[in-house]
Amino acid sequence: MILIETVKELRAWRKSAGRVIFVPTMGALHDGHAALVREARHMAGTDAQVAASIFVNPLQFGPNEDFDRYPRTLEADLAICQAAGADMVFAPGVKEVYHADRSIQIRESSLSNVLCGASRPGHFDGVCTVVAKLFNLVQPDDAVFGKKDYQQLAIIRRLVRDLNFPVEIHGLETVREDDGLAMSSRNRYLSPAERAQAPALRAALVKARDAWQADVTGGCHLLHIIHQHLAEHATLGRKDYIALVDRHTLQPLDIVQNDGLIALAVFFDKARLIDNIELVR
Ligand code: PAJ
Repeated sequence: MILIETVKELRAWRKSAGRVIFVPTMGALHDGHAALVREARHMAGTDAQVAASIFVNPLQFGPNEDFDRYPRTLEADLAICQAAGADMVFAPGVKEVYHADRSIQIRESSLSNVLCGASRPGHFDGVCTVVAKLFNLVQPDDAVFGKKDYQQLAIIRRLVRDLNFPVEIHGLETVREDDGLAMSSRNRYLSPAERAQAPALRAALVKARDAWQADVTGGCHLLHIIHQHLAEHATLGRKDYIALVDRHTLQPLDIVQNDGLIALAVFFDKARLIDNIELVR
């Protein structure tokens, strides 16, 4: 596996790389990221190359968010990428990616207005801008993203569709700890007491899905089940949002017959956790 830190070297690598499967990340890698790289390796077989990127993108952090203290663990990340089967890791510095006087950025103006986008203004514009740049740099044929960030995945599909990137997007299931908590780089910020309560997010979503499978289709009823469970089992958390939406447009649904998504975000003291569950018959 090779490590590339400059755009110039990356361009040279790309010229002879053939088909490329790409996994963009911000580092602080855990087994959820590793699963994406392993899937990319599986898709690539022996003919194609697997590329990962590690770049903590300043544009997608709000002024009061955790850009400065976002964990940076490059050595460990490289070992994880290698073990999962990456051929190349692109890990540029901020100055390599952004010119000081940069003046163009991408704005997504529909899917970004709800869920996480509503409480993180500008976040998804930052994501779209960096992903567009990474796609232009790495020029992948396929790219793999996690369903843990369901809204991000939907927005990237829209980015690719609306700007005609020649990249096929693949969404992978969320990788979880044994107790159901979705793996996240931010779980390390939970206190022991918060960590003990955090699996309640998943448990609440599963409870609502079970109810839906038993024919509860009303959104109010389903969301009430989640509120109730969190009020009892996640007393240290503060709700950001809990929503039932269409899986593609992310617009609110009053009832869910055959297809929907419940997504939620909960603030703990030093970490905001997100999770979601698909309701699909
Ligand atoms: P990051 O949070 O590092 O996540 C990188 C990829 O890993 C994303 O596609 C995310 O959905 C996926 N991922 C994270 N936790 C996961 C889990 N438990 N199971 C499965 N997949 C998981 O998302 C970003 O970085 C950035 O916004 C990025 C797209 C790289 C742009 O900067």
